[in-house]
Amino acid sequence: MGELEHMRATRDGYDSAAAQYLALFRNAVPEHPLDNAMIGAFADFVRGASLPVLDVGCGPGAVTDQLRRLGLRARGLDLSPEMVALAREHFPDVEFAQGDMAAVDLPDGALGGLLSRSSIIHTPPEEVPAVFAEFHRLLAPGGHLLLTFQADAGAARVPQPFDHAVAPAYRWPVDRVTGLLREAGFHETARLVSAPELDPVRGFHYGHLLFRKPAEAGGAG
Ligand SMILES: C[S@@+](CC[C@H](N)C(=O)[O-])C[C@H]1O[C@@H](n2cnc3c(N)ncnc32)[C@H](O)[C@@H]1O
Repeated sequence: MGELEHMRATRDGYDSAAAQYLALFRNAVPEHPLDNAMIGAFADFVRGASLPVLDVGCGPGAVTDQLRRLGLRARGLDLSPEMVALAREHFPDVEFAQGDMAAVDLPDGALGGLLSRSSIIHTPPEEVPAVFAEFHRLLAPGGHLLLTFQADAGAARVPQPFDHAVAPAYRWPVDRVTGLLREAGFHETARLVSAPELDPVRGFHYGHLLFRKPAEAGGAG
């Protein structure tokens, strides 16, 4: 699939599924304590910074609003105009925009934190390094990234396609993602990989990776 084709498939898929998604996850914030622990830690790390936080691939916006309630200047961004419309309707106190997380209309270093929950799964694997480079560009030195995604904890070394109901999707070996984040210039703060029993729908592991852009700009490794 070419770039435009995969983006169109994801956008149209989420546009069509938006109402159903909302019915399933109405105002849903994560219920699992481990998931919330990572969001809480991310919020604690970021809260001191005066810069805003961007929730990329925010969907219907409930987690963006959760970040706002945790005291962050949180905004949401999503490829799907329908998702953005739902988010605006349900969370009028939060700013949401339509756009591609691979090309965000913000200057370098504009963000104190960046959250991506189950949004990189729809990016063709060969394009994920460019997305991580964009996340690195957007964060100010010392800024924090929380990346959550469906993970493959088996023997696979490369991302595996899975039968996502809305759009083509991949689950990723955790070490492959951490390697790409390091190559993009991030440093690891913490990682959590949840057990498959905690995913009642598909029985997948989830990776929750807390990384940071080094305080001294440009440091890699
Ligand atoms: C599985 S949903 C997750 C929604 C939300 N983050 C959550 O945790 O409930 C994935 C979302 O990522 C969005 N998305 C996928 N690719 C994107 C891209 N390149 N730029 C912005 N949003 C994207 C989709 O439109 C969809 O709303």
